[in-house]
Parts: sequence; structure tokens; C-alpha cells
Amino acid sequence: MNYAIITGTSKGLGASIAENFLANEVNVIGIARHVNKELEELASQEGTTYQHFCCDLTDVDQLRNTFSKITTQVFTNKTSYVYLINNAATVNPIDTANNHKLEEVQTHMQINTIAPMMTTSLLLKEANQNNTQVIIANVSSGAADRSTFGWSAYGASKAGLNRYTETVALEQKALGTNHKVILLDPSIMDTEMQGDIRSATKEQFEEIEQFKKFKEEDMLRDTAIVAGAFFDVLKDVKNIENGKYYRINDLLS
Ligand SMILES: NC(=O)c1ccc[n+]([C@@H]2O[C@H](COP(=O)([O-])OP(=O)(O)OC[C@H]3O[C@@H](n4cnc5c(N)ncnc54)[C@H](OP(=O)(O)O)[C@@H]3O)[C@@H](O)[C@H]2O)c1
Repeated sequence: MNYAIITGTSKGLGASIAENFLANEVNVIGIARHVNKELEELASQEGTTYQHFCCDLTDVDQLRNTFSKITTQVFTNKTSYVYLINNAATVNPIDTANNHKLEEVQTHMQINTIAPMMTTSLLLKEANQNNTQVIIANVSSGAADRSTFGWSAYGASKAGLNRYTETVALEQKALGTNHKVILLDPSIMDTEMQGDIRSATKEQFEEIEQFKKFKEEDMLRDTAIVAGAFFDVLKDVKNIENGKYYRINDLLS
């Protein structure tokens, strides 16, 4: 049996990615502050397991303790590979930098960039000790590639995640491991994160009307469609291209 460790499984894209693994013989370990009972029920119907760890990724001690418990569990002599999907993120604070509170900036970077760096490092260490292949997918955003008024934190945290991911992929290749480290860009989806975006003011977020229009005109993708396309990439472990940035708009075109 193989395992997928997924952050942010309580809702949105993370929950949909978990559903795909559970329906395809991969046990899921979910991490979020809130539980997801539906994933437990789905697992029991599918003959897989869903185990939830309530963990606030802004708390480094919680993250370390949670990962220590998880890695003890997933690396067994029957495990061929382990997935880590760093999906949890926040778009807040949405505001011009001059209005940011220091704590908000720290929390933002911890969830979006530092936590994925920590989980990646912890998993690679354990994988090497256990001689097991890992596939690490970090969920990014188009916001990393352009400067958006009101999204200085989000753009910076995702750009940092991109550079980190691509560098780790390069290192793993040079080290001759078979680990794969990739990026996933889901584009715009109908989740609570989009609700957070729409609740900003024009002063905080210049493109607010455009994002309200995305919702009104039904342009936000269903997370099930996005997760299904990502799963098609992830399940084909041999053909995953280490270091690649997989964009949903390319996968669905
Ligand atoms: N939605 C979009 O249009 C869009 C576009 C581009 C990229 N993305 C990216 O896609 C990914 C998923 O986004 P989404 O739209 O599904 O977001 P979402 O609906 O807001 O869900 C975010 C998930 O992250 C978890 N999370 C947030 N803060 C956390 C914390 N401190 N500790 C632990 N877990 C935490 C939440 O769980 P708890 O609240 O239970 O902790 C939740 O499960 C993110 O990386 C996002 O940047 C989204």
C-alpha cells in the first residue's frame, strides 16, 4: 500500500485531491486545522484509509511532531513510494504592503512557503533513510509569475515556493535519487479562497471586479476537475518529469 500526505484536506482542492487517491488504492494522511469526515467515509467505502492530523502549519513544533508521527507510519517495508502534496495555503493578507500587519506577513509566509520547505526536507530525509521513493508536488499559482496590486505577500510566497521546488528538483537529479519534485498550478477554482478574494475592497485589491466576474460568469473551475487532471499526472509515477511545472490550463487543453 502506498501513501499520500496532503496538506489542506479539510476543503477545496486538497479535499478533491485526497478523494482521487482514496479511490485509487492510496491511503491518505490529511493535515489541516479542521477534520474532514467525508474523506473518512469515502475511504471506508473504497477500502483505503484516511487519517487526519489536526495541525496548524504556522506552529513549527506542531508541524515537526505531526510529521514525525506520520513518517513513522508511512515508511513500512510494504511501501513503494510516498506522495507529499503541499496544498495548504492562504491568500491573506490582501492589501497594499503599507497596510500589512507584521504577524499576518509571518503567518502567510509560514503557511505558503516555509511549511512546504520544512515538510519537503523532513520527507526527503526519512525517504533516504528508508530507501523509498517520494513524489513531492507543491501547489503554486499564476500569482507567482506576475505582480498583482494587493497580492504582494501571495505573489512573493508562491514565487519563493517555485524557486525552492525547482532547486530541490535540480539537487535530487544531481544527487542521482529517484525522487520527483514538481509544481502544480491549478488556476482559478471555486473555493473558499476565491471567497476571501471577493471580500476584499477595491483599495485592497485592484482586480476585485474581475474576480467577482469570474464567479458570476461561472469561470471558476470545480476542484474535482482540477484534482482529476493532477491525479492523472501523479498516478503515472514513472513518467512524472522531475522539476516540471504542471499547469492545469495545459493539462486540460
Ligand atoms: N482557489 C483558487 O482559485 C486558486 C488559484 C491558484 C492557486 N490556488 C492554490 O491552490 C491551493 C488550494 O487552494 P484552495 O482554493 O483549495 O484553498 P481553500 O479552499 O482556502 O483551502 C485551504 C486549505 O488549506 C488549509 N490551511 C490553511 N491554513 C492552514 C494552517 N494554518 N494550517 C493547516 N492548514 C491550513 C485549510 O484547512 P484548515 O482551515 O482546516 O486549516 C484548507 O484545507 C493553494 O495552494 C492555493 O494557493 C488556488
